[in-house]
Amino acid sequence: MPALLLERDRALVEQFLALAGQTRRERQITITHTKQTRIQLVQETVTTTTAPGHIPPAPLLPLLGRQAEVAELVNRLQTARLITLVGAPGIGKTRLALAVAHAALGQFADGAAFVSLAEATTLDDIPYVVLRQLDISPTPQQTAVAAIQSYLAPRHLLLVLDNCEHLLEGVTLFSDWLTHAPCLTLLCTSRTPLDLYGEQEWPLAPLPVPDLAQRPSPAWADTAAMQLAGAGASHRPHLRPERR
Ligand SMILES: Nc1ncnc2c1ncn2[C@@H]1O[C@H](COP(=O)(O)OP(=O)(O)OP(=O)(O)O)[C@@H](O)[C@H]1O
Ligand SMILES: [Mg+2]
Repeated sequence: MPALLLERDRALVEQFLALAGQTRRERQITITHTKQTRIQLVQETVTTTTAPGHIPPAPLLPLLGRQAEVAELVNRLQTARLITLVGAPGIGKTRLALAVAHAALGQFADGAAFVSLAEATTLDDIPYVVLRQLDISPTPQQTAVAAIQSYLAPRHLLLVLDNCEHLLEGVTLFSDWLTHAPCLTLLCTSRTPLDLYGEQEWPLAPLPVPDLAQRPSPAWADTAAMQLAGAGASHRPHLRPERR
């Protein structure tokens, strides 16, 4: 706008300046707001990632299928205290338990821990395997069993106990833990039921396979079972079909 004209109409100029100032202020307010939101977001992220709870190991490959099982088990863990995934060797019990533990992490203030009992060779080994995998250090006066109990007692924890069939006689220990730790939940995997009081058995069926009596269809490739078979072959060269 020409200066002369502006000089003639001071009121108009003042109005323009006021408007410009207002716009600048609004912009500043927006910038400050965005900055604060970002700071808030960063704080939230830091709070989530530095939570002191246990976190189960993360599998390298994605879970194929089993979405319905994960959802139902996560839901059931809100009330059940002892669930056992029961199924044949290799059917996917450990893989499912890990997926459920990750999905249910937010439900347990102390997180979800994973202990593989396959390492124990005798019944007496079990407490030491648990101590080591949960990173518990007993005090000089404590036995291994007592140290586990006093560690678990105050915790709101999901504990995955893998390969329980390995030493079935040892699982009575789990009942003691559940009695002494009112906020503890156990998710076990086993080839056979544990036969413990209060146990909820969850028989795991194989992933559904296409009807092999039908003509092969391209849709087969989308089924979780075929993808798992393909993934197995790609990691084990001896399973790959030969090229001619
Ligand atoms: N739904 C799935 N998605 C991806 N990988 C899977 C799935 N189910 C099983 N697997 C893979 O198949 C293999 C066998 O599964 P897993 O170890 O869970 O079986 P298991 O029932 O625990 O066997 P075991 O009784 O020997 O302990 C693993 O490599 C696992 O990662
Ligand atoms: Mg297993």
